[in-house]
Amino acid sequence: MIRVGVIGCGGIARVHESYLSNLAPLGRLTALADIDLERAKAAAEKLDGVKAAADYRDIYNHVDAVLLSLPHHLHYPIGMDFLRAGKHVLMEKPLANKEEECLELIDTAKKNNLTLMTAYCMRYHPLVEKMGQLLRDEYLGRVFSVSIWTEQYTYQEEGRWGRSAEKLGGGQLFSHGCHYIDILLSYLGDPVEGTHTGTNYCTPWMEREGTSHVAMKFKSGAVAYHFGTWGAKGSRLRYSFHAHCEKGMLEINIAEGKLISIVEGKETILAECTPGSKYLQNEMMHFLSCVNTGNRPLTDGPKSLQSLRVIWKLYEAEEKGVVANLTGLGLGCVE
Ligand SMILES: NC(=O)c1ccc[n+]([C@@H]2O[C@H](COP(=O)([O-])OP(=O)(O)OC[C@H]3O[C@@H](n4cnc5c(N)ncnc54)[C@H](O)[C@@H]3O)[C@@H](O)[C@H]2O)c1
Repeated sequence: MIRVGVIGCGGIARVHESYLSNLAPLGRLTALADIDLERAKAAAEKLDGVKAAADYRDIYNHVDAVLLSLPHHLHYPIGMDFLRAGKHVLMEKPLANKEEECLELIDTAKKNNLTLMTAYCMRYHPLVEKMGQLLRDEYLGRVFSVSIWTEQYTYQEEGRWGRSAEKLGGGQLFSHGCHYIDILLSYLGDPVEGTHTGTNYCTPWMEREGTSHVAMKFKSGAVAYHFGTWGAKGSRLRYSFHAHCEKGMLEINIAEGKLISIVEGKETILAECTPGSKYLQNEMMHFLSCVNTGNRPLTDGPKSLQSLRVIWKLYEAEEKGVVANLTGLGLGCVE
């Protein structure tokens, strides 16, 4: 049984809590750490025999693997500490705020023969996986356009790390859009060019953009669009994926838990799942199974770095007012 610890017991860790008492047959939760000890204790109380600590270094002897659900600027230093201590790491997204930091994490994991995976939970969502399979199989012919909307209201209170561009590592695109750039790379192959336009207009709490529009073109000829906002006070599409193919369209509505096809005006439900669920347990089970077998996670360090490289190129081009050259950043370009 892999002994699992969670470092950072804030917002997303409380969502992870729903399955942490049940990691069998591969693992069991043994320790929780948060600089705010009361948070760690409150979470540990709900689970049997779990150690709670304020200093994460106090749990080294109690874990083989950790989920790091921490502010982004702490991913690199605390991730490095756990890898140096010989622990496998499941890092909440994004891997780290700078390319050099990501490369050092990847290199350290490799040298110590440890699993390093980014928690891109949407890649393990059953409907997102199913759409990927249908696109690869050309179920409705070749895909020529994918659009992904994520519309939510996320207010960052005064003093929160998420307001700061430096601590967050960027804006809404870097923090949240990284899930969807990763999915677009997994669906459409090698990107060739793209643009980003972002604004903090009407999300003034964000130092960088709170609303983000990305357009990308792929080697196949397909195009993609991603719109993400933290300023939506109302929404119809919420979390939606549309894939237009030669014979019709595929649509995921995450809130309703449905994947449908629309062909010649006829709607068919192709897959259903629990509405609104993040399915975080799927990514954790994939991580534990990779720790167990030594297999490479789908969203391992090198592959998850590609979406961040795309985002950095898009930000750089936006500042210069040019179209970003994205060649060489497909997931297939990673060794
Ligand atoms: N996959 C998703 O859908 C999703 C959603 C939200 C957040 N996240 C990710 O989860 C991570 C955490 O985000 P959050 O919203 O939960 O943040 P948060 O601020 O709510 O929680 C972070 C926790 O880390 C603790 N912490 C800070 N410094 C620490 C230290 N040195 N040692 C131990 N604990 C420390 C804080 O006290 C806090 O409890 C981020 O990487 C974020 O991008 C993922």
